[in-house]
Amino acid sequence: MSAQKKIRRITVPELRARKGGEPIVSLTSYHAHTAAVVDKFADFILVGDSLGMVMHGMESTIGVSLELMIMHGKAVVRGTKRALVVVDMPFGSYEESPEQAFRNAARIMMDTQCQAVKMEGGARMAETIRFLTERGIPVMGHVGLTPQATNAMGGFKTQGRTEDTWQIHIDDAKAVAEAGAFAVVVEGVVEPLAVKITDAIDVPTIGIGASNQCDGQILVLEDMLGLNPWTPKFVKVYGNLGGMIEKAVEDYAKDVKSRAFPGEDQVYR
Ligand code: KIV
Repeated sequence: MSAQKKIRRITVPELRARKGGEPIVSLTSYHAHTAAVVDKFADFILVGDSLGMVMHGMESTIGVSLELMIMHGKAVVRGTKRALVVVDMPFGSYEESPEQAFRNAARIMMDTQCQAVKMEGGARMAETIRFLTERGIPVMGHVGLTPQATNAMGGFKTQGRTEDTWQIHIDDAKAVAEAGAFAVVVEGVVEPLAVKITDAIDVPTIGIGASNQCDGQILVLEDMLGLNPWTPKFVKVYGNLGGMIEKAVEDYAKDVKSRAFPGEDQVYR
């Protein structure tokens, strides 16, 4: 009998049970090879619709289609063994009705084999979240700054700058959690509001530009790797991949032009 322990994925109930415990580690990923690296350290991986900007040069997440999410979701599931994989529901694929959301969430799960979906919005999405969770689709919520609503919000603006706006965000998070979401992303809110939201709900909060008092953190992988020239202020940059890629490509171009590449060892014999 093999002594090797079978690696298995973190489950939705396991992630939910981390409320108030060891902080949850998560990152986005959009393709198999980076997902395989992230898989070693992250509790969950989000195939975020930020892929529209990061991978496809779009100006916002509004142009991202269901097909694009499914394509990247499949790659991330293939590249991973351990982390829970959550796929974002893109703009226009869930807001119309609970039935529309169920149909598209089921398609994402069937086609990608991911374990959960994420959708943006607070109280207005509660009925939909309940509809999906009662039918076996685990849902991660997303409140505070919701990028799919930036046209309505007038840009990427920090939420909760004045205390009189806090209750709306707290009520949003409560509505989403009470409807059955197993965790809630809290994006771009001032720190004291993130703390209040975290205290107000009994499922983990996952902060992004929020507070280290959330139950976990998420960042866009390319931002923290230094691949995005417009990295948001709240991101801690852990690498300089942009610079490394540029240097490698420059060296390769020089080698090609001087006929130093391919060398003796780099040709089929
Ligand atoms: O699309 C995304 O990458 C996200 C994260 C920033 C939370 O929603």
